[in-house]
Amino acid sequence: MSHEPAASEVEIVEVGPRDGLQNESRELSTEAKVDLVERSFAAGLGRVEVTSFVHPRAVPAMADAEQVLAGVAAGPGRVRSALVINQRGLDRATAAGVDDLNLVLVATETFSRRNQRMGVAETLAEIGRLVAGTGRPVCVTIAAAFGCPFEGRVPEATVLDLAGRVADLGVREISLADTIGVGTPDQVARLVRGLDEVAPGVRRRAHFHNTRNTGYANAVAALEAGIDALDAATGGIGGCPFAPGATGNIATEDLLYLLHGMGVRTGVDLAAVVDNARWLQERLGGAPVPGQLSRAGVWPA
Ligand code: COA
Ligand code: ZN
Repeated sequence: MSHEPAASEVEIVEVGPRDGLQNESRELSTEAKVDLVERSFAAGLGRVEVTSFVHPRAVPAMADAEQVLAGVAAGPGRVRSALVINQRGLDRATAAGVDDLNLVLVATETFSRRNQRMGVAETLAEIGRLVAGTGRPVCVTIAAAFGCPFEGRVPEATVLDLAGRVADLGVREISLADTIGVGTPDQVARLVRGLDEVAPGVRRRAHFHNTRNTGYANAVAALEAGIDALDAATGGIGGCPFAPGATGNIATEDLLYLLHGMGVRTGVDLAAVVDNARWLQERLGGAPVPGQLSRAGVWPA
């Protein structure tokens, strides 16, 4: 085992309004979605994935993407990010005035076709066109980078090869996503370090789901490997509607507790996020959210 010091700071990207709400059976009003975004910015989360500009039939909970983004004012320290998959989505996001883009490249053929009705090579070509046609900062998320619900294990070489191709397109950031929560810390360390070689100079981001309770260990492994940004969802809600058995993201509040305890700076107010998680739980009907801090409380009080 390596014993390198963890990074002294890391950016937390709040993905609850997108990854979280896309997978909830109860749909929030547009106003409540805007509230969740505003509460997140108020807590000090500087970048929030506000929505996704995908087909409303594919993900009904994101059908009001334009209205949600319109409800959230632009401003310094408030990066309003959105997920986009194709040209139509980019056109919509651009017209709506999005600040930052998250594009998706699924690492396996079967899942790629199920999620976005394009194969891997076709998606890569589409991403090339989207990147060339936008002046906005782009992250490309490599989904199913740690395992696929349909094809099983995904070779690390495949993921790093895709990352290298994405880096060649001139993106600002690459995110490795454990869409179905199957990864383990050793794998995370190898892949994040691998990015240094295939995508030098590109910001490194990671996205973990806690489906098998490895999400927080994976976040620590990513941190130790030098990750620049970690995704998390308030309350630990979330999941991909196109991946059978997918469950929640790592919870923003639980991740913050862990990071702050380790002395890692995030600029985020933990107590405010705990409050947001409790608020969100109410809005979603009251069933306990997966995150633990909203029940356990901040310690020391
Ligand atoms: N937003 C709204 N409408 C869209 C759209 C978008 N982003 N992309 C395509 N459409 C419309 C087209 O305009 C076209 O409409 P028309 O029939 O009235 O002309 C129709 O959808 C079909 O277009 P096509 O390009 O063939 O899309 P598709 O049916 O192959 O679907 C996606 C592709 C990507 C739009 C769809 O699979 C999708 O939205 N998937 C969502 C995946 C997702 O969100 N996963 C979770 C997060 S990773
Ligand atoms: Zn996710």
